[in-house]
Amino acid sequence: MARAVLIDDGVWWVGARDISRRIFDSIIPLPKGTSYNSYLVVGKEKIVLIDTVNPGFESELEERISSVVKPSDIDYVVMNHAEPDHAGAIPHILRISPKAKLVTTAVGAKMAKIFYGVPNDRVYVVRDGDTIDLGGKTLKFIEAPMLHWPETMFTYLEENKILFTCDFFGAHIAQGLWDDEVEDLIYHAQRYFGEIMMPFRVNALNALKKIAGLDIRVIAPSHGPIYRNPRKIIESYYSWVEGRTKRKAVVLYVSMWGYTENIVKTFADDLRAEGIDVVLHNLAVADLGDVAKDLVDSRAIVLATPTVVLNAHPLAALAAYLAKILKPPAKYLALIVLYAWGTQAERQLQEIARDLKAELIGMVKINVTPSKEDIENLRGLAKELSKRLKAEPE
Ligand SMILES: [Fe+2]
Ligand SMILES: [Fe+2]
Repeated sequence: MARAVLIDDGVWWVGARDISRRIFDSIIPLPKGTSYNSYLVVGKEKIVLIDTVNPGFESELEERISSVVKPSDIDYVVMNHAEPDHAGAIPHILRISPKAKLVTTAVGAKMAKIFYGVPNDRVYVVRDGDTIDLGGKTLKFIEAPMLHWPETMFTYLEENKILFTCDFFGAHIAQGLWDDEVEDLIYHAQRYFGEIMMPFRVNALNALKKIAGLDIRVIAPSHGPIYRNPRKIIESYYSWVEGRTKRKAVVLYVSMWGYTENIVKTFADDLRAEGIDVVLHNLAVADLGDVAKDLVDSRAIVLATPTVVLNAHPLAALAAYLAKILKPPAKYLALIVLYAWGTQAERQLQEIARDLKAELIGMVKINVTPSKEDIENLRGLAKELSKRLKAEPE
């Protein structure tokens, strides 16, 4: 029988660990699985469940809850976010907790209806700053929209000084209960930020400012470990949200016969010789979570592709598209295009990357093997890019 884990006075972790899950959103690899954290808060008068779990883990959630209270005694189910990995078990919970009301924002109420068929009379809509008294414990709701959906909010448990943030501050990692038990947690948190939160940096900054006045002892997100030392993750979030980039170039490339790869490796060496931190990702085998992570703090993106039927290789087009929708803070872009008998790949990539807001520093087009002039151009591009990257402090 799965049991609840007491994490603080009157607060239990009742979530699920999806150790074997290897993909999220059908695109992002999960090398360490993930967890769906759900929390039970027991006041003197009221019992609350904060967020639920991914569909398929309902019985585990029910067992953990049942080790502390009867599910039928739950008064409120707080839905900080409507996405199925946290709200998918809501229909089950509302069935076994017949008196429970679903607590969510006005937008959340609409989502609960379309996703889970929750009728209006089961919903208790809260606004920014509203509170619910549980008897010796007070829940305060903080609207934090577009992190990463319009209905998202945080829940602050005042007496315990715990902030429940759902996806915000999350990390896809199944192991560890507390932050200090996971060595590479910031790496996983940065991957998560790159994949999920980076497109919403403006909203994220608003949320950070909003919670800056709170006395936060513990941050309890809904993926990954709970932060009993929240300072480091808050500082990391500030740096990612504000787009503080490093003297770093992320090189995303595809190579079919090795020609592009050879050129890109020499180009990376030229950048390194100028003191630039370079990370190469061969898109044929790259972990897109790592690509997203490196986009979080890279000042330049280098895209290199061979030509396939006059266009960029589909994987390079995918990378350009990903970079466009993830909205990384990179300031500079460089393109390297190889072709045998004709190409329009550079136009295609430029078009996809137009919304990146990164300045195109240069583009080198090479007819299979680089000529003397191509080699000079590549060197010149590496030099110019390095100069730009070094013009700003680390
Ligand atoms: Fe989500
Ligand atoms: Fe999530």
